[in-house]
Amino acid sequence: MRMYDVIEKKRDGFALTREEIDFFIKGYTEGDIPDYQASALCMAIYFQGMTEEERVYLTLAMAHSGDVIDLSNIEGIKVDKHSTGGVGDTTTLVLAPLVASAGVPFAKMSGRGLGHTGGTIDKLEAIPGFSVELQQDDFIRLVNENKLAVVGQSGNLTPADKKLYGLRDVTATISSIPLIASSIMSKKLAAGADAIVLDVKTGAGAFMKTKDEAVELAEAMVSIGKGAGRKTIAVISDMSQPLGRAIGNALEVKEAIQTLKGEGPEDLLDLSLELGSQMVVLGGKASSTKEARDILEQNIDNGKALETFRTFVKAQGGDDRVAEDFSLLPAANHQIPFLARESGYISEIIADEIGTSAMMLGAGRATKESSIDLSVGIVLHKKVGDYVKEGEPILTIHTNQKEIDEVKEKLAHSISVQQEQVKAPVLIHEVIT
Ligand code: URA
Ligand code: CA
Repeated sequence: MRMYDVIEKKRDGFALTREEIDFFIKGYTEGDIPDYQASALCMAIYFQGMTEEERVYLTLAMAHSGDVIDLSNIEGIKVDKHSTGGVGDTTTLVLAPLVASAGVPFAKMSGRGLGHTGGTIDKLEAIPGFSVELQQDDFIRLVNENKLAVVGQSGNLTPADKKLYGLRDVTATISSIPLIASSIMSKKLAAGADAIVLDVKTGAGAFMKTKDEAVELAEAMVSIGKGAGRKTIAVISDMSQPLGRAIGNALEVKEAIQTLKGEGPEDLLDLSLELGSQMVVLGGKASSTKEARDILEQNIDNGKALETFRTFVKAQGGDDRVAEDFSLLPAANHQIPFLARESGYISEIIADEIGTSAMMLGAGRATKESSIDLSVGIVLHKKVGDYVKEGEPILTIHTNQKEIDEVKEKLAHSISVQQEQVKAPVLIHEVIT
């Protein structure tokens, strides 16, 4: 087989066979196919697209390009959750103990990643003593014992995706639905879960800016998941403004604990219950999402969700007293209120701008080498649709820097106030099955 012929075939709009796709992925991962041929194929895919079958073949080839996690020693149906990324998206911290409290095993391998705040792993490390470095055996034992463990990514997962993503990033071929969907799903398949719930965000703070794009990506991923033999469901949710009120690592841990106690922000609770009930149904612990939601709501009311969180934290070496004593979490030296300059209704809190502001405070990594400050971030007191009086705080900046004029200026440009009443944005647009 020649790579030239594969490129030509896709350029002319024909579907590639499984053998051709395997040849490309194997050859590219091993360095036998050069970057210039791989980028030509990506560009051909960008313009010609891929059939459902081609997408499944590409995803499977990438999923098997490196290690594949074996979770078969965990009892029950393992359900994984993936978010396409947003600002202040605290849901995994809430979902993990919540879903585990309903008896569904939550075995999560998570990365640090780049972005506005740290990833789930970074956030958990804000809890004193908490360790994500677990041996594979201990990871599996903990999930069997407590239904829940989170481990940092190790090993060599989906090297084909890493290499290809780097290439797409510099050849203007990121924004292709088949390439994005197969990239995300290959990592989910390699992580070993039996069923997958996807939270596809839409809005300013999301990868997919419009709802139509988000739906298209969600449908592509659900179809790949099914084609690869995993039950897959996608929820399309709003990311025009940050989710919940806290954006920042320790701040989000606190917010997650409050939510597990039933005292958290409404939108974070709603989305967690929506995603969580889908996971409980896929995990076989309820026959309808209504029944699943009832179980989860009960476990928040009766303290079981919080108890599961404490057990999880303790099992991974963390100080579980944080559940009752937030002063154990790292705190920033300065808390600076950001005041409304006029009275009116909040019409816009642009998610990605708020996220960038949090990153400027040190809450996230700009490059792989940057270090992050777990204590800093932003807490919103108002959300879109709320009324604010002149001089009232819209948010509080938690910072260790004295000089934050640049951040304040960015925030001033990201928040709008108007005289006419504003409706809060719809949080959950659609569920795709
Ligand atoms: N996220 C991924 O993991 N892959 C893509 O291609 C785009 C976003
Ligand atoms: Ca949040």
